Amino acid sequence: MALKNDRFIRALLKQPVDCTPVWMMRQAGRYLPEYRETRAKAGDFLSLCKNTDLATEVTLQPLRRYDFDAAILFSDILTIPDVMGLGLYFSEGEGPKFKKVVRCEKDVADLHAIKTETDLDYVVNAVRSIHSALGGSVPLIGFSGSPWTLATYMVEGQSTKDFRHVKTMAYNTPEIMHALLDKLATAVTEYLNAQIVAGAEVVQIFDTWGGVLSTAAYQEFSLNYMKKIVQGLTRERDGQKIPVILFTKNGGLWLENIADSGADALGLDWTIDIGIARERVGGKVALQGNMDPAMLFANAKRIQSEVKSILGSFGDHPGHVFNLGHGITPNVSPDAVKTFVDSVHELSRR
Ligand code: CP3
Repeated sequence: MALKNDRFIRALLKQPVDCTPVWMMRQAGRYLPEYRETRAKAGDFLSLCKNTDLATEVTLQPLRRYDFDAAILFSDILTIPDVMGLGLYFSEGEGPKFKKVVRCEKDVADLHAIKTETDLDYVVNAVRSIHSALGGSVPLIGFSGSPWTLATYMVEGQSTKDFRHVKTMAYNTPEIMHALLDKLATAVTEYLNAQIVAGAEVVQIFDTWGGVLSTAAYQEFSLNYMKKIVQGLTRERDGQKIPVILFTKNGGLWLENIADSGADALGLDWTIDIGIARERVGGKVALQGNMDPAMLFANAKRIQSEVKSILGSFGDHPGHVFNLGHGITPNVSPDAVKTFVDSVHELSRR
């Protein structure tokens, strides 16, 4: 199916575009009243992910309101540890939790190898259904967490501020940590390839917690495994390239290393100036980002001036996808998002 709007893919491949493409991490989410309504209908977040029709519906909701240049699969990164045997649940207001945690060699050995088509059939079904509902209007992004980021939740059992258990494992018993990361890299590769077969046109790896590591530990425990995944991905389908985006939050110090991973594009959080990032790695990869999500709490004029400044800093070069530096937060006004998306297109029109 030929894409009607391919400026997102073109930008990821550093080809010329008519204006800068834009999408938003967490674009289907609680800031939208229609999302909250559909989620209430599903009962809870996980039931929403597992219901093909409702997952398709919430993926499309932001595209009805805004001129986004991409859709992203509605799901979560923690689907993999769930079916590896940990039992994922969400307790209201507290975020994700696991019934079982991974703390020793036996816990790692007990993890199941996954077969996405059967163990995570609801994800494959959602990709197929969304892809068909989009009808080629915009590309569909599939995604996964990075092995390190998944490991933080599997070892801690929930979100964490100090990363105590997961760093203890990495520093005290690196062989156990590597065994875990190895299993995860295999699972993530298989998972992303299944999404590509089902219709994803781009994939993004979310390394939300890579940035809590030291430089050496980032290379050893996070980047090496993302590289392995990138090498194992299906990079072309029906003659169309499938670009890969790596997003390490707080990874600005290591851009040169990340750009050597084999990925097509790097996601940037808001702490680095995108023009400086481009000078450092723009010859190798496209860049995605990087407005502070909290800028969406500012007034329309301020949002527009920030968009202008980020576009200006990147400059008139190929290879920019506009995004926030991390996911949109629940209390943002839907009007602010309209200002954001429209100003990216208007201010970047070639
Ligand atoms: O971007 C999108 O629109 C696609 C959907 C998506 C979700 N989670 C939906 C979701 C994506 C890409 C994710 C990735 C994800 N999930 C990450 C990596 C990216 C990031 O934001 O750092 C992480 C760390 C998770 C794990 C996770 N899932 C957490 C920590 C939480 C709780 C967050 C919170 O604010 O309560 C979730 C739940 C979750 N995943 C929600 C959504 C829309 C909120 C669920 C709800 O209550 O409706």
